[in-house]
Amino acid sequence: MINVENSPDFGHVSVLLYETADALDVTPGNTYFDGTFGGGGHSRLILERGGIVRATDMDSDAIEAAKVSDVFRPYLVSGQLALTKSNFADFIEQADELFDGMIFDLGVSSHQLDTTERGFSFRRDARLDMRMDRTAPISAYEIVNEWDYEDLKRIFYEYGEERNAPRIARRIAETRTRAPIETTYQLAELLNTHPKRVFQALRIAVQDELGSLSRMLKAAPNRLKPGGVIAVISFHSLEDRLVKHSFRDDTRLSVITKHPITPRDEELRENTRSGSAKLRTARKVG
Ligand SMILES: C[S@@+](CC[C@H](N)C(=O)[O-])C[C@H]1O[C@@H](n2cnc3c(N)ncnc32)[C@H](O)[C@@H]1O
Repeated sequence: MINVENSPDFGHVSVLLYETADALDVTPGNTYFDGTFGGGGHSRLILERGGIVRATDMDSDAIEAAKVSDVFRPYLVSGQLALTKSNFADFIEQADELFDGMIFDLGVSSHQLDTTERGFSFRRDARLDMRMDRTAPISAYEIVNEWDYEDLKRIFYEYGEERNAPRIARRIAETRTRAPIETTYQLAELLNTHPKRVFQALRIAVQDELGSLSRMLKAAPNRLKPGGVIAVISFHSLEDRLVKHSFRDDTRLSVITKHPITPRDEELRENTRSGSAKLRTARKVG
């Protein structure tokens, strides 16, 4: 695991870094797509191994940080790296380029969690937000204050795997009849249980993360060259199941990882965020 800073102030330690780059079998001059640039850790290793990288992130902070980074600026100037602010699903559906490999490192970056005003963390008091794309129309505020009881219950169950989902949804629905629930701390306080699962569920709902993942999984194989590898790192059992089934059922792909690759003990010790990470890879047939 490299512990060096990639984009300045990003403070994001990449998960399963070498495992992913090795799975892509990076070859100098070949072109790779990184759908989740974040602090750029995975892209950086591909660039250092001579790959050409086309990357997206839906968070403009990630793109702007790379532009002013001593690490990435030279690659951007030379054209070895190109960055687009986009949802990876939109980009892949519209791309006409073919790639030798693709990587998707799903979920939230440390930068997003650690930036108070983004409203991702129950440990930091901010207006409820959680939008990775700050131009998106729906934030956690609208979900918490406007979605009906049934929808709240469903996302807490499904995305949060929260067994107290009905009680929590009822509490939110009652509380907001008096005044809107404005902040992360207000929400965390009224839950009466550990807020982690509820916050995770809201984040997944705000982004429609499973919707983007499904769209990407359908479109990506058509954008891979024969023999090219797609690598997906997921942090949630629903995501992992979608990836597993999609790789298994897609006749354009042949599964490489019968069982997912998980972080080694050393990585688990050094980076608690890696705890639930699972890497699955598949190769384009033909
Ligand atoms: C876990 S971080 C990636 C970290 C990166 N691999 C690294 O090593 O620094 C996930 C990033 O993907 C972005 N992201 C999540 N879902 C996305 C989507 N559907 N389209 C584009 N970017 C997305 C987030 O904004 C975040 O910056």
